[in-house]
Amino acid sequence: MTEQTPTKVDMEKIVSLCQRRGFIFPSSEIYGGLSSCWDYGPLGVELKRNIKEAWWRAVVQERDDMIGLDASILMNPKVWEASGHVKGFSDPLVECKNCHLRWRVDELAGDDCPSCGGELTEPRLFNLMFKTFMGPIEDNASIVYLRPETAQGIFVNFQNVLNTTRKKLPFGIAQMGKAFRNEITTGNFIFRSREFEQMEIEYFVKPGSDKEWFDYWLEERFNWYTKLGIKKENLKLRPHTKEELAHYARECADIEYLFPMGWAELEGIANRTDFDLRQHANSSAKSLEYFDDETKEHFIPYVIEPSAGVDRSVLAFLCDAYDEEPDEEGIRVLLHLHPTLAPIKVAVLPLSRREKLVAAAKQIYADLRQCWMVQYDDAQSIGRRYRRQDEIGTPFCVTIDFQSLEDEQVTIRERDTMNQIRVPIKELKTTLAAKLSGEELFVLPPGGKIWKAERV
Ligand code: GAP
Repeated sequence: MTEQTPTKVDMEKIVSLCQRRGFIFPSSEIYGGLSSCWDYGPLGVELKRNIKEAWWRAVVQERDDMIGLDASILMNPKVWEASGHVKGFSDPLVECKNCHLRWRVDELAGDDCPSCGGELTEPRLFNLMFKTFMGPIEDNASIVYLRPETAQGIFVNFQNVLNTTRKKLPFGIAQMGKAFRNEITTGNFIFRSREFEQMEIEYFVKPGSDKEWFDYWLEERFNWYTKLGIKKENLKLRPHTKEELAHYARECADIEYLFPMGWAELEGIANRTDFDLRQHANSSAKSLEYFDDETKEHFIPYVIEPSAGVDRSVLAFLCDAYDEEPDEEGIRVLLHLHPTLAPIKVAVLPLSRREKLVAAAKQIYADLRQCWMVQYDDAQSIGRRYRRQDEIGTPFCVTIDFQSLEDEQVTIRERDTMNQIRVPIKELKTTLAAKLSGEELFVLPPGGKIWKAERV
């Protein structure tokens, strides 16, 4: 993509753009919202879908060693006992004796309540799983949990997948879906919420080869973000210290992004050893062993888990793409989103609302939307319309003018460079397809900026 100088954007600008243009709204806003719950609007849902599709394509579709799964959110509660979540998935909490606000101990800077300065209680453990009841009776026997991670759905299906696909180690299972955590402190927009989506891989390997695969997935997942346009200098790997490691992990590292509030976790990669499969095998009394045809050995595989947040990815891609450029009208706000992620790929803009132009433009619009998400816009000046598309990250605008009626050609205008080329209408679809997939470059003036979408 175009060389951009790294911009450290304010969160308020991102939140404002998201609400103004229909990316993300507060949940149930007309009732005053619900703390840390968010709704994805018409553009947000496209961006999110594109991120998930790019992930699925990279980790399932284009690989021999991966398959997908979609487990249910509600699971037998024994799953969460075996996984350690009922006992151990908790944060130490203190409560202010004066204002009764609760705080996470690891996020406190001093000894007093950050809100009113009041005295704090001793820390108590607070379980982050949401509980509900299955069926009509609300007693202990009918308690079920909303899953706090998608991972366990994969572990409990390990044997089913193995039996039905006959995969050989190493292989992985990928799943994306909703997860719920009753987080004590939320905030920073969609960074930490109580309902969110994860994209998780459980990659099963032979014990002894786990370190090698851990390193492989660190690199693989880091590169996925940069290929989709995130600037390298805004990403870093942070290995966990021994004290930080989760109860199941032997080694863990976070891919961190430089969010507006500072460096924070975007994705975690963990070596979970055989902890989960062993726990489930013991609790269910079912064998979760793998039989190695070559060595004739039975063993429980080790697991490398790259676990990413969809909502944190949405936020990182938006922050990284946000840019402001001075222009004759003041400031051009634009999102340099990778074409693969852009919610709208092409905007069709007739120069005026004259009948003949509109008919030709509508024909092109109908044709292009067979392939991509396309917007039609004929309101206000062409300059305003270009700006509106820049602000939502649309890579290409197609303009139909009076000349088009004569020579059957239209103009393609590119978002980042604002370069324009003229192409025959009958070649429009193939030209756009090549540009959107990164196979074709614009012909640029000498010294012009190079724009190339890397194919992912
Ligand atoms: N299965 C491992 C696991 O769930 P995690 O580090 O707790 O590990 C993985 O979560 C990813 O899920 C995080 O890197 C983050 O992107 C996302 N995530 C976790 N809690 C979240 C929350 N409350 N809001 C939004 N995303 C969250």
